[in-house]
Amino acid sequence: MSKTYNIAVMGGDGTGPEVLAEGIKVLKVAAEKHAVQLHFVDYDLGGERYMKTGDLVPDSCIEEFKKVDAIYLGAIGHPDVKPGILETGILLKLRFVLDQYINLRPVKLYPNVETPLKDKGPEDIDFVVIRENSGGIYTGMGGAVKKGTPNEIATQIMVYSRFEVDRCLKYAYELTRKRNKKNMLTLVHKSNVLTHTGDLWVRAHKEMGDRDFKDIKQDYAHVDATTMWFVKNPEFFDVIVTENLFGDIITDIGAMIQGGMGIAAGGNINPEGVSMFEPIGGSAPKYTGKNVINPLAAINAAAMMMDTLGETKAAKAIDNAVTEALKSGKIKSMSAGKMGMGTRELGDYVASLVK
Ligand code: IPM
Ligand code: MN
Repeated sequence: MSKTYNIAVMGGDGTGPEVLAEGIKVLKVAAEKHAVQLHFVDYDLGGERYMKTGDLVPDSCIEEFKKVDAIYLGAIGHPDVKPGILETGILLKLRFVLDQYINLRPVKLYPNVETPLKDKGPEDIDFVVIRENSGGIYTGMGGAVKKGTPNEIATQIMVYSRFEVDRCLKYAYELTRKRNKKNMLTLVHKSNVLTHTGDLWVRAHKEMGDRDFKDIKQDYAHVDATTMWFVKNPEFFDVIVTENLFGDIITDIGAMIQGGMGIAAGGNINPEGVSMFEPIGGSAPKYTGKNVINPLAAINAAAMMMDTLGETKAAKAIDNAVTEALKSGKIKSMSAGKMGMGTRELGDYVASLVK
């Protein structure tokens, strides 16, 4: 019996809907070949809707999202909406209410994809970053007093509970074991300065590893050194686990060394609940509607969605098709407008390679 999955589709702003259309095209072929039933339901959320109605994510949508199997998100961000409103009101809101406490960001250089790193190839750039996605500075604790005066004070607190740290580490250790590559989990923090939350992460990482994951090598790196190593020796890494803000920052470097926003995908995962998958590039307003944006990041996000749902064959089929498409040399660049084919043509091509 094949399983039916209900997928909420939220194209969002700018090029979001265009790239998701290609991801859905590829998903449909993969699903058909691997006897998976996918049922897509569209949600019109984002900057346009906000400007018309003031809605960000209405409560009724949240209730519906809690019942779907996954959410497929295009992009959030509109040039006419003040920065921050849509990001916090839609993206962060969904991460929080759906408790998507893992942000999974693979950093993988595919064949024939250009990296800015000299002398590095696909065998050097292949690791995974697990960013804690619900706590830390993003929790929003803090405040401001004496605003507008010379004595103004503002705080924004990096807060973590043992529970949040442990559940993230458990996911990271398990993924390291499942990946079975170098079997090494690097904790990234800044424990030499952040002696409270850093210490919490360091102890929890060691205790869990010593207790439940003796087969996994424990490693630690400071976040500043990590940014250097991403550029200097990315081949060192296997799986990285880190707190929210550090993860936000290092995964932008990760996206660049794997070929840029055209190909980088991410998953906001609640391992016990509803997860949301997205190409991590923005809404790219200047490329909207021109059939020039790269859909590969959205296609990779679709593969990650299938994998997380447990449909590993469909996931693998999509990933292999992306690899084959890139190996062919027909895709000239990851940059919008320079791919050597249009958004839709690239989607057609990858779909044709799904076996
Ligand atoms: C990301 C983004 C978001 C974040 C913003 C848009 C709120 O940068 O997904 O990495 O900071 O998490
Ligand atoms: Mn970011």
